[in-house]
Amino acid sequence: MVLWDALLLIKEHLRLTTIWPSKISIQCGATLNVTFDQEPANAQLILHLHDENYSKDGLLVDYLKELKVVDQGLIHEKELSFFKLYLPYTFAHYFGKKAGKCYSVSHFAQTLDGKIATINGDSKWIGNEDNLEHAHRMRALCDAILVGAGTVQRDNPRLNVRKVSGPHPIRVIIGNRELKSTEFHAIEPSTLIFCNDRLVNGEFTKVHLSKEPEYDLDLLLSKLADRGIHSVYIEGGAQTTSSFLTQKALDQIQLHFSTKIIGSGISSFSFSGIEKIQDAITFSSKKFVPMGDEIMFIGNLKR
Ligand SMILES: NC(=O)c1ccc[n+]([C@@H]2O[C@H](COP(=O)([O-])OP(=O)(O)OC[C@H]3O[C@@H](n4cnc5c(N)ncnc54)[C@H](OP(=O)(O)O)[C@@H]3O)[C@@H](O)[C@H]2O)c1
Repeated sequence: MVLWDALLLIKEHLRLTTIWPSKISIQCGATLNVTFDQEPANAQLILHLHDENYSKDGLLVDYLKELKVVDQGLIHEKELSFFKLYLPYTFAHYFGKKAGKCYSVSHFAQTLDGKIATINGDSKWIGNEDNLEHAHRMRALCDAILVGAGTVQRDNPRLNVRKVSGPHPIRVIIGNRELKSTEFHAIEPSTLIFCNDRLVNGEFTKVHLSKEPEYDLDLLLSKLADRGIHSVYIEGGAQTTSSFLTQKALDQIQLHFSTKIIGSGISSFSFSGIEKIQDAITFSSKKFVPMGDEIMFIGNLKR
């Protein structure tokens, strides 16, 4: 898909530059051409962006001021919605680097009755094929992917990009348990495992993070930023996602609603309940986007 390749080129350009563009032009003829701060005569799509000081929140705000479609016949409305959905994530590395922070986006698929897995821990697949493809697009746009050790042990995920084109993210795991590269796909020398000192070294990169009794997730994010990782896509499980949420270490939640009901199982969130509705966790901006025949909630959190 041409506009997906354009998004990857925008991401790569913004990863390497320190100069914020005021406009981006896309020519999608025989060869795809993406140019910055220029308006070639044969461009089909021209994006005018807000000034980089437009918001302090970076990723959370849509920097797109105006999107001009020069040739309506070549780019359809559905492709434009797709492009606009993923565009903000191509900016994350640029703003994260400037602010010295790592943006965190948490994604999971839940049943209609609020479960992310059955009582046996089975979760393949709660969401639909569009949701899986979406997760792979987000993996390609973010610098890193993070899961809890429980998910590695239960699902043995590969945590790479297979369903779309794009770069593989750096794998990040939180947990103190023994995870051998001979048993788990995601364990390799470049995988960062955040753990306390009790975990012996293995075939991965160990990063110290004390557990008292929870890991400090703001500290984890700042350690990622120190390593040049400025956006991380968090793919569960329940304990990991809930810790990010309750520690206010999340910038965005992407919650896929599957059209399944399973009665009991692992709840999407597990933390001690909030007693008054007025204290409930709410969002600074929110939208629902279609995912094939299902739907995804995308909400930004105040940090
Ligand atoms: N539906 C979906 O989208 C989806 C996505 C992912 C996973 N899942 C399902 O979720 C289930 C796994 O969820 P889970 O909640 O059991 O496991 P999890 O969140 O993947 O892993 C929990 C472990 O991660 C470590 N951990 C992560 N954050 C921590 C924190 N802030 N403080 C302390 N420890 C932290 C701890 O490891 P140590 O104890 O080793 O320190 C903890 O025991 C599986 O059944 C999986 O299939 C579903």
